Amino acid sequence: MGRGYSRDVSKPLDKRTVLVAGGAGFIGSNFIRYLLDAEPGVRVVNFDLLTYAGNVRNNAEVEEDPRYRFVRGDIADDADVSGVFADSAIDVVVNFAAETHVDRSIEDAAPFVRTNVMGTACLLEHARRAGVSRYVQISTDEVYGSLGERGAFREDTPLEPNNPYAATKAGADLLVLAEARTHGAPALITRCSNNYGPMQFPEKFIPLMVANAMEDRPVPVYGDGSNRREWIYVDDHSRGVWEAVDKGRAGEVYNIGGGREMANVDLARMVLDELGKPASLIEFVTDRPGHDLRYAIDCSRIEREWGWSARWDFTDGIRATVEWYRTHPDWVREVRDGSYRAYYERHYTHRNATLTSFR
Ligand code: NAD
Ligand code: TYD
Repeated sequence: MGRGYSRDVSKPLDKRTVLVAGGAGFIGSNFIRYLLDAEPGVRVVNFDLLTYAGNVRNNAEVEEDPRYRFVRGDIADDADVSGVFADSAIDVVVNFAAETHVDRSIEDAAPFVRTNVMGTACLLEHARRAGVSRYVQISTDEVYGSLGERGAFREDTPLEPNNPYAATKAGADLLVLAEARTHGAPALITRCSNNYGPMQFPEKFIPLMVANAMEDRPVPVYGDGSNRREWIYVDDHSRGVWEAVDKGRAGEVYNIGGGREMANVDLARMVLDELGKPASLIEFVTDRPGHDLRYAIDCSRIEREWGWSARWDFTDGIRATVEWYRTHPDWVREVRDGSYRAYYERHYTHRNATLTSFR
């Protein structure tokens, strides 16, 4: 059965080898770049199934780094997870791996239940057997449900998820909290507001708008565009997650937020303006069923306890994001025509170096 948890709180935090699940996606890949840059003594195992949302091109900047290693695998597959833990001595697990798009979860919830709930249970089980020092579950403010005109989500706001994606993320959160209470796992949760930045899959609102508008195609805005989201630049989220590894406490929840709330239609106008495209590209389309009206997050806890605060100004962040998409037309084209999926075969399967163990 392996080591399990010692419950020895005086044990120093060992964070030499970090398993990043879902590290080929938008936020996970940003986190890996951040980590390898910020922490010279840390090694990273990127464990990712490479679903449609996983793109190893997102890891191009780090793939030659000797401290980086990619392992293709499924967090919901016992043999895959067991294999990655057997292969490297993992100290910290950060779980970004998930099915993440609300609209897809409305079409078919099954992969969301499998990866987000069962996958989290499987990772927790193997993290316990390995006796890791820290487990961080990357969650979302969507688990809290929808706000009215006023107020903001706090860590003690009750869970009231409204769509299958949010429901499965809430289910995963409850498993993590149960693992901490039952088994003494050094596990905690971060819940973040909507992220934006480079390399976000263009099914999500901001990159979809940018990719469409760059081709002078309409920008679809659901309903009347009055739904509001709070936005955070992805770099600020990554920095918060690493602070969670260092400063977070077991069994606790920490909100992370960018502080900039905006109605979707206003955001669409802003993005089009930044691209030098006319607002007439906005096309109001049928609303999403169960569309949450408003998200806003109170992240005063981590500001107070960790000294974290968002650094990116929203206008600068949107400008940097638009600029990234503008200067990376190949990334957008390969994602849209599906050829990004061949990149893995070309660049990874023949490379023994990326498949060897650190030990
Ligand atoms: P993403 O869809 O860009 O990436 C998800 C990654 O997980 C992909 O690389 C995919 O291949 C991988 N994956 C999916 N199923 C897997 C499985 N069974 N096993 C292993 N890997 C698997 O998502 P993202 O936007 O980077 O989000 C990352 C995490 O952050 C998610 O847990 C999401 O719920 C959370 N989150 C996202 C946002 C946001 O605005 N994007 C906000 C708050 C929280
Ligand atoms: P999205 O990026 O899917 O994130 P989430 O639903 O997880 O918040 O959507 C952000 C907001 O933009 C949300 O209110 C739905 C809206 N939206 C549109 O208006 N048009 C679109 O094409 C998409 C994808 C989203």
